[in-house]
Amino acid sequence: MSADRGVLAIYPGSFDPVTRGHEDIARRTLRLADRVLIAVAETSTQRKQPLFTVEERLELLREVFRDEPRVECASFSGLLVDFARSRGAHCIIRGLRAVSDFEYEFQMAQMNRQLWSEAETVFLTPDVPFAFLSASLVREVAALGGDVSAFVSPPVLEAMRRKLGGEARKGEFP
Ligand code: PNS
Repeated sequence: MSADRGVLAIYPGSFDPVTRGHEDIARRTLRLADRVLIAVAETSTQRKQPLFTVEERLELLREVFRDEPRVECASFSGLLVDFARSRGAHCIIRGLRAVSDFEYEFQMAQMNRQLWSEAETVFLTPDVPFAFLSASLVREVAALGGDVSAFVSPPVLEAMRRKLGGEARKGEFP
């Protein structure tokens, strides 16, 4: 916490792409913290084939949160705790949906605390409509031609349409 700018929380993830569930968690964070830094990881613990580049994900995040001056978006490489420490963010926000998230999240929280004892992970639950939403499901459904307009903001939907135009018709998904 810095005396002049209040509590900064960091909300890390892959955000490939940002969903309404992520938006919900980031906006809830602003009830607890003065500012939130949404941090797009160049390295994810769960190896996944990305749909959007890190730069594209950042652009979409900035578009989605353009109304909220207390949200900053950045990418980072290397360890989350190193990036968080460099920005003075002790509070790590993670969204917790179903019980199935718990083990992975618990492991990460413990490891992050081990790596930086001043890190505190705070879990927030999303609003009910987003309780089972994941970016990977959104990517899969969109690639197979399903309607994901309830799950992502219009700029994200548009970007997915542009990106998946050809692949969706082939019935493939990343
Ligand atoms: O949205 P995700 O993919 O579940 O987010 C996972 C993420 C990016 C938060 C995690 O993989 C991460 O922190 N990556 C950065 C590298 C790192 O610090 N790894 C050790 C985590 S204990």
